[in-house]
Amino acid sequence: MLTKFRNPIGALLLSAACAPVWAADTAAADALAQSSGCMSCHAKADKIVGPAFLSVADKYRGDKDAAASLAQSIQNGSRGKWGRVPMPPHASLSQADLKVLAQWVLATKP
Ligand code: HEC
Repeated sequence: MLTKFRNPIGALLLSAACAPVWAADTAAADALAQSSGCMSCHAKADKIVGPAFLSVADKYRGDKDAAASLAQSIQNGSRGKWGRVPMPPHASLSQADLKVLAQWVLATKP
């Protein structure tokens, strides 16, 4: 955390908008989801090929193991939980990225 303040860009982000760190994290997760191709099958509020991320957040609300299990679903693919269409695996994402994506999906707000 301390290193963040020594990083000129991080310091700029923090001071510029007085934005909570969370906002910066959300933007980063958003970009990660875009670049990982998630948004070709998912949207925030609408079912496309996969379920709306809002529906996913609703389904797992209050489940403390959800982040870990969703990270697994994203990494290994998922089938049968939402319908007949399976999600393909995303084996090239790092554990850190998987965690960011899973927590970002769970934090989806209307
Ligand atoms: C080719 C289309 C496709 C892509 C690309 C895709 N998904 Fe999915 N996703 C699906 C489908 C279909 C399901 C429902 C699977 C099921 O029924 O178990 C799903 C389910 C999910 C779930 C719920 C899993 C569960 O255990 O309930 C999450 C979270 C998710 N996707 C996140 C992502 C993220 C993050 C990415 C990008 C790295 C991504 N998806 C990319 C089609 C896709």
